[in-house]
Amino acid sequence: MFELDQQRFDSKAELYAGLRAQAAALLDGERDAVANAANLAALIFHGVPDLNWAGFYFLREQELVVGPFQGKPACVRIALGRGVCGTAAEQMRTQVVADVDSFAGHIPCDADSRSELVVPLIDRAGGLIGVLDLDSPLPGRFDQDDAAGVEGLAEIYMAAYMAASGR
Ligand code: SME
Repeated sequence: MFELDQQRFDSKAELYAGLRAQAAALLDGERDAVANAANLAALIFHGVPDLNWAGFYFLREQELVVGPFQGKPACVRIALGRGVCGTAAEQMRTQVVADVDSFAGHIPCDADSRSELVVPLIDRAGGLIGVLDLDSPLPGRFDQDDAAGVEGLAEIYMAAYMAASGR
């Protein structure tokens, strides 16, 4: 059972469908990439249960640089291939990590984080824009339903991003 804005959802699929509808409404007609990332980070942080961090890292000159997020202050720069974020970026594949302590090279930004889900942001030409990172204080918090749900939210972000940039 999940709750969002006093609405109850019986399944994760329903929760994420509700979040997609809210994300689409928040980003509708707005093309500013920072504004949209900020609102999406806030929507995810407050809408997805049991998170301690949710936000963006953007690719800047071959490294990831922190963008809009909710949670405690985070590492500013992450090299491609380092940590969960850098791995998602380098492989351009979603990473679901049940136990961050057993992930070689995990970067402990917030000591509360126990599990992590990172989705790469990829444009129409196959170029990497950045990653969307969710951290939880609970071990094994994220499963394939969460991965699919957050990938759907990332798609909404990228649709607005590409509409603005033409990419
Ligand atoms: N733990 C991440 C770094 C980013 S923060 O958790 C916000 C990682 O290993 O990529």
